[in-house]
Amino acid sequence: MKTIKVIFPLLGFCALLSLLPIGGKVRTDLWTSDFPDQNNYQFPDNFLWGAASAAQHIEHQQPSDWTSFERTVIAEGRTSTNPRPGYAIPGHINNLDAYPALVRLKKTNYDEMFDHDFSIAQTLGHNSHRFSISWARLFPRKGMVRPDKRGLAFYNEIFASLKAHNIQPLVSLFHFSTPDWFWEEKDGKRGWERDDAIHHFEMFVTAVVEAFGQHVSIWTTLNEPMTYVFNGYMEGIFPPLEQRDILGVAPVVAKLLEAHSRAYEIVHADASKRSKEVLVGIAKHTRAFEPLRTWAPLDRLSAATIDQAFIWDFLDAIQSGVMKLVNTDFELEIPQLKGTQDYVGINYYGRFYVESKLLDPTNPKIHFYDPKISDEVRSDLDWAIYPHGFYQVLVAAHKRYGKPIYVLENGLADLKGNDKRRQQFLVTHLREIWNAINHAGADIRGYMHWSFIDNFEWAEGFTARFGLIKTEYDSEFKRVPRPSAYLYQDIIRSNGISSEVWNSYHKPHMD
Ligand code: BGC
Repeated sequence: MKTIKVIFPLLGFCALLSLLPIGGKVRTDLWTSDFPDQNNYQFPDNFLWGAASAAQHIEHQQPSDWTSFERTVIAEGRTSTNPRPGYAIPGHINNLDAYPALVRLKKTNYDEMFDHDFSIAQTLGHNSHRFSISWARLFPRKGMVRPDKRGLAFYNEIFASLKAHNIQPLVSLFHFSTPDWFWEEKDGKRGWERDDAIHHFEMFVTAVVEAFGQHVSIWTTLNEPMTYVFNGYMEGIFPPLEQRDILGVAPVVAKLLEAHSRAYEIVHADASKRSKEVLVGIAKHTRAFEPLRTWAPLDRLSAATIDQAFIWDFLDAIQSGVMKLVNTDFELEIPQLKGTQDYVGINYYGRFYVESKLLDPTNPKIHFYDPKISDEVRSDLDWAIYPHGFYQVLVAAHKRYGKPIYVLENGLADLKGNDKRRQQFLVTHLREIWNAINHAGADIRGYMHWSFIDNFEWAEGFTARFGLIKTEYDSEFKRVPRPSAYLYQDIIRSNGISSEVWNSYHKPHMD
């Protein structure tokens, strides 16, 4: 009785609060945006159509921090799977020991098969391809001041093969893995926090642009810096496997911003020597953060805070030159950072729901899907699929910065043989790009699906399958295009989505 007496007024109070203009994020019931249907969704001329990958995902193991982690995990038997899909156990790589040593070493065997891969990409109509250059491959040993010749030769062949297949390269410089020696302690600091970290990164970037600058017009300095910081320094599921609080990670975020601004300058200096036009930016991981309970004002406010902290703080810092951390009084001016983004790179994977805790308001719970919606469409990692959120993120980025946008990642883990979810994902998300261009005036210039082939998915090991193309993990490493690869081919061929394609694939289902 006593509880009821307390709960009813509390619920009433919350209901009342939810009517007030308290702000924060609201939750929508839309799955896709509700603009009127078209006969044809035609994309701009010269739109870049491709897919993405990164070195540690696909290349033979190099002496990187991730390779060390992968080997330690095997040596120490840390390969347990969390019963909740999508939640890695800190210090473990999901089921890694189930894959043969050859697969762990060669990943997708891209080193021996990239030419074959690019010929498949060409047949499928791709005119562009995003990949990263491995810092550990160019600077495998401590103290090197010139890049490794074999490393350079490897990427020279990659660029030559892309050219031969008429595929434009989009290159990332940092995509989560770093040389292992970078983590040796120097003056009590490791990795990005070492005093010489920026100097080493500059050496790597300089070597890359000197060797390959003539081939590349679109550069990504950093891939998903906040994902890296969150997973590596807060959750402890990526190297360096640490668990700090938000202020504890501020020095790392500041270093990454500095690394970005230095790389921006080095790439531009090289391009102007070559009288070449380049676009330089970062790839930002975005999500639609929405309140789990729209009636709960604290959920709405927490969703807005997380949205700002996780998505916009980093991009805002590049735009203004001043790093701020939402809800803290942290403020730091980073020299030469202001305005160093020529485009905004968007990676988008779906909706997360934010549930605040009354007694612990600064530590809300994030749900990958809404437990109350039994038929919500989810990926194999349990991430809720939400095309309309993609539209919102693209439009927000456009309004905030007014820059060209490249979608550098968008995809889902889907191992089911019928590939229905991936096809539905592809069509619905591409239509949101069309909507953002045509209904909001966003200047979106390309789409890189994540990923081209199944690959090593970080703490999820080889279990999460993101590929348009299936990789068979045995000694042959055979590539088998999934139905979505052919659907994408049709879309690329017509440079748009026909109403037939839209009608066949847009309805939400969990097939
Ligand atoms: C990363 C990729 C990753 C993908 C799917 C992004 O966070 O940039 O490396 O594989 O998401 O999890």
